[in-house]
Amino acid sequence: MNILVLGSGGREHAIVCALAASPLAGSIFVAPGNGGEAPGARNVVLDALDAQAVVAFARSNDVELVVVGPEAPLVAGVADVVREAGILCFGPGASGARMEGSKQFSKEFMERHSIPTATFGAFTDVEDALTYLQKQSAPIVVKADGLAAGKGVTVAATLEEAEQAVRECFAGRFGEAGTTVVIEECMTGPECSLLVFTDGTRVLPMAPAQDHKRAGEGDTGPNTGGMGVYSPVPLVTDEEYALMLSYMERTVTGLAAEGIDYRGVLYGGFMLTPTGPRVLEFNARFGDPETQVLLPRLKSDLLEVMLAVARGDLSSVELEWDDGWAVSVVLASAGYPGDYEKGKPISGIEAAEAVAGVKVYHAGTKRAQDGTLVTNGGRVLNVTALGVSFAQARERAYEACGFISFEGAWYRRDIGARAL
Ligand code: AMP
Ligand code: GLY
Repeated sequence: MNILVLGSGGREHAIVCALAASPLAGSIFVAPGNGGEAPGARNVVLDALDAQAVVAFARSNDVELVVVGPEAPLVAGVADVVREAGILCFGPGASGARMEGSKQFSKEFMERHSIPTATFGAFTDVEDALTYLQKQSAPIVVKADGLAAGKGVTVAATLEEAEQAVRECFAGRFGEAGTTVVIEECMTGPECSLLVFTDGTRVLPMAPAQDHKRAGEGDTGPNTGGMGVYSPVPLVTDEEYALMLSYMERTVTGLAAEGIDYRGVLYGGFMLTPTGPRVLEFNARFGDPETQVLLPRLKSDLLEVMLAVARGDLSSVELEWDDGWAVSVVLASAGYPGDYEKGKPISGIEAAEAVAGVKVYHAGTKRAQDGTLVTNGGRVLNVTALGVSFAQARERAYEACGFISFEGAWYRRDIGARAL
């Protein structure tokens, strides 16, 4: 069976590697992909946001399953068009993707379905937003409603800072995404994510994972797309896990009750507050870099799972997981998350993968004209290691990182330190 995967990050390389391991997989096309490789997979030039082009490519290449990695094509409704064309698609349609594409929609959804989250107000008028803000106390959180590549959230320490964030949002800092602004109570506690596969009614959970969003060690410095991740998460108690799962199930039941046929991954971002887990946000897709620690632990055939999701029938699927630990460390370019250069030759991946339990996923890489592997993004590689203990997985990941080099490469040395 031929498959088309949309996306270009470490998440997509991890998905492609897992799909390539399936005996059912034929050709795997990745649009646009990166420098990462997998047996039977090749990159193709295709605009993932152009639904008609995706359908045309799928038809002319006998693609039977389209897997949508990132949020933008989901929010744009690419999955709807693919399904209308009679092609199986892993990923929700535009109505389900609003859970990620509109913070106001997801907050109001949570309110309707009694899913614990921060109290909030949503505004389309700057004066209304500022009036609401004056009645709140700091710290407080200001969010652009729409997709802003992870940059639309300000956790403001003072009301002045919050006011400035509100004004900037309405002044167009995030374009269309900021024409509605959500102001939220600031919650406290450790964060963790719980991702589930869903066919629109049934829910099959993955293990919890914990991302490290800040650039600096000890969770300091600017926000990034994620500098490392591990799974499962020892600090999550059985009670907390059961609550998080029940909120995910309630969410899927709520989506179905509202007539939304959600087929794909639903990502719940949680804060473990002193009064229990509460939802920070939903994403309509696999997390990046969470996928790079979740899929390596999946022993079941990912293609069979994705097909069952896409067909809307997970009833006969059971997920089997490796019961070890997974840690993934992100190797980044000098200057990231600020400006950075591209095109630096990368070496040492083979030696890194010779370390037991290690797999290196490509994120910001590409093959240059002469075939050399070079950097092509801020987050370049995800070095994932499995181990029978958390300490072993961590040691293996860091040992492997030591073999890889490119000019300016850096990584956090404390990924998972807080779980030890
Ligand atoms: P989001 O894109 O909504 O996940 O927000 C990005 C990050 O901002 C989260 O991972 C949290 O660290 C922080 N954040 C978002 N909402 C809140 C909140 N209500 N209280 C505290 N921190 C928040
Ligand atoms: N790791 C956070 C995300 O994928 O949104």
